[in-house]
Amino acid sequence: MDGGDIRGAVHTNIRHDSAVKHVTGKAVYIDDMPVPPDSQEVALVLSPHAHARIVSIDTSAAAAAPGVSAVVSAADIPGKNDIAPVFSDEPLLADGVAEYAGMPVVAVAADTYDLAFSAAKLVRIEYEELAPVLSIEEAWEKEQYTYKPPRIVFGDAEAAIGNSANVVSGEVRCGGQDHFYLESHIALAIPGEDRDITVHSSTQHPTEVQHGVSHVLGVALNDVTIEVRRMGGAFGGKESQATIIAAIAALLADKCRKPVKLRLRRDDDMIVTGKRHDFLFRYRIGFDDDGCIDSAVIDMAARSGNVADLSGGVVARALCHGDNAYFIPNALFRGWPCKTNTVSNTAFRGFGGPQGMIAIETAIEHIARDLGKSVDEVRAVNWYGTEDRNVTPYGQPVTDNIMPELVDRLTREVDYDGRKKAIDAFNASHTTLKKGIALMPVKFGISFNAPMLNQAGALIHVYTDGSVHLNHGGTEMGQGLFVKVAQVVSSVFQIDIDNVKISATRTDKVPNTAPTAASAGSDLNGMAAFNAAEEIKTRMAGIAGDHFGVPPEDIEFRQNRVYAGNESLSFAETAQLTWNQRVSLSATGYYRTPDIHWDGDSMTGSPFYYFTYGACIAEVAIDTLTGESRVLAADILQDVGASLNPSIDLGQIEGAFVQGMGWLTSEELVWDDKGHLMTHGPSTYKIPGSRDVPPHFKVHLLDDAPNRVPTIFRSKAVGEPPLMLAISVWLAIRDAVSRTGDYKLMPKLDAPATPEAILMSLEDIKQRAGA
Ligand code: MTE
Ligand code: HPA
Ligand code: MOS
Repeated sequence: MDGGDIRGAVHTNIRHDSAVKHVTGKAVYIDDMPVPPDSQEVALVLSPHAHARIVSIDTSAAAAAPGVSAVVSAADIPGKNDIAPVFSDEPLLADGVAEYAGMPVVAVAADTYDLAFSAAKLVRIEYEELAPVLSIEEAWEKEQYTYKPPRIVFGDAEAAIGNSANVVSGEVRCGGQDHFYLESHIALAIPGEDRDITVHSSTQHPTEVQHGVSHVLGVALNDVTIEVRRMGGAFGGKESQATIIAAIAALLADKCRKPVKLRLRRDDDMIVTGKRHDFLFRYRIGFDDDGCIDSAVIDMAARSGNVADLSGGVVARALCHGDNAYFIPNALFRGWPCKTNTVSNTAFRGFGGPQGMIAIETAIEHIARDLGKSVDEVRAVNWYGTEDRNVTPYGQPVTDNIMPELVDRLTREVDYDGRKKAIDAFNASHTTLKKGIALMPVKFGISFNAPMLNQAGALIHVYTDGSVHLNHGGTEMGQGLFVKVAQVVSSVFQIDIDNVKISATRTDKVPNTAPTAASAGSDLNGMAAFNAAEEIKTRMAGIAGDHFGVPPEDIEFRQNRVYAGNESLSFAETAQLTWNQRVSLSATGYYRTPDIHWDGDSMTGSPFYYFTYGACIAEVAIDTLTGESRVLAADILQDVGASLNPSIDLGQIEGAFVQGMGWLTSEELVWDDKGHLMTHGPSTYKIPGSRDVPPHFKVHLLDDAPNRVPTIFRSKAVGEPPLMLAISVWLAIRDAVSRTGDYKLMPKLDAPATPEAILMSLEDIKQRAGA
């Protein structure tokens, strides 16, 4: 069924359906859509204070300003001022209190953006400043959390640590990250009859935007339709945060009964919407003389921001990846979702997984330094087993572990040992430049931590000319989901993919969807579309069987035709015949992931349908005078099962790796002591550029590795896991720093390893080594 005799079958390298449109600028994003007459644009009034009581709001002058059609604050919300995705009481507009600098308080719609902007300046708000809590430490100390702190308890970690031959303890941090998608947040809300409203939203989660708009307007879900054709990047930043923008646009449109477009300028986008959670980790690890871990106590304190948002899921995923690829017989992993007066932290590629892995990888390095062993030796004695030593701290057995072999293969293929020796030689003959090298294994759990989100729907129509209309609940953000799902449909019907029309995601076509997230988009929507297409194919086979006088089992769909032995009809003729016989050519498909369960109170269960595995070896050079670093080489081996589309997957791996590099080396979020974000544009916030891509950058997909559990054509998810491979870069920088002290000391180097941070850690090693 996956043969290559049609164009666009699964497992073939077909380009992204919009590739040409992306590079020629013809792809239509929301800001490119022709707006209806009378459309209004929006300016926001943001809280200048990180924490303040709102004493009064006077919008009268703004409302009377030229061109203004609506001004709204919390008091104007007809429904509920709550857009919480998981918990409740997370306001759309500040009500009585502002909890971060940049929190929207008032929104103004006018004929043009300039008029809205001028009118917004006329809004008078009186604040009474309150003391803000700005750091993880302060919130942690005050036990100020956004929800009840969770923990994973496995064995008896405290007792085991007491009996361990060796113990190390330490602290490490990782920074947050702005998504920096090319298309900033945007929504266009168009009011219809009565209080109906259609919102074009740049969102990964149309259903949640629908819920948010319905709550805020106080209308039913069936009054609200959300549409998204594509996003110009999302990376988790448009999972919950899009609701803020869509709901404000809808609120204004509902009030003035005109179409309203809200597009955030880059600076506002960075100030108003959430980012990756930064974490502070404290660990204590007990281990034997081989470096084999008996026990790990890890505290993971996350900046949650002003509200919980998705922190429950993010911190849970961090805790569930605190093991990474290692068996830990006694584990106590505690999560601390610290409530701070900074913008709410949210989903970002990896969803807590990358952060959880930073902690255990630091601990592994610490064990190696303590025993005077190589980090890779310590890793090897701690891998999950297959028969025993194979249960995660949350109780899920690891049944598909291929990490030891995968790492063996990669290290042999790139001559890891030889390259380590070459680096020793280089470092011996260079004083200013120092090289470092490191391996990073990544085991990542696939499925949403919340089991209910692991479901999807699709809607397929076959028309009488044989052309196919495809719709499903997944959204396209550049990752290639739409082309993959179209490949599935093309393979089921055995027709060229050009006959499959990819269409915008809409809540009135496929309802009650999960976000396109957790890397599960193609697993879920691919299966739902497969089921819908199979249903129609079965009906068409019945009609073709009657036509040829053979049982339906003898009908074969092949090369755009429908065969009974040597006789055949074209796919289009069969579609026409099916209609003539009054049999439906339209079907919905549904899928839910089997075999998963999770108890959120005890933090136990089997939340992941399967794991993906990957490893990267990265080589870096640091300049010991300036602290600058360069990634010289990165070699990746990634398990993607039987890839639906190897060239798309390659692009996902490359992009994720470079995005991870940015998080760990150059992207730094800085707030001033009043809680204002100082890094809110490209001049102060440094994302990687094309010249940061390693000159030697080789990505290999693990071949002959179909998923052992039945997924869509035995493929595996790819979207997030490779981001964590970039931790190899951070570890390689630590390796280079550590070599300046003869490997005897643990570098004091958090992420991101910016030039300043590297320089300070070099200085610290120098002083400690000399002391
Ligand atoms: N790739 C591109 N080009 N743009 C994106 O916004 N988001 C990532 C990843 N790859 C993203 C991307 C994130 S965070 C996730 S969860 C997955 O894509 C979601 O899509 P999928 O489930 O279809 O892989
Ligand atoms: N990943 C991404 N988004 C999510 C998840 C997850 O595991 N759970 C809830 N939202
Ligand atoms: Mo991705 S962070 O799960 O949207």
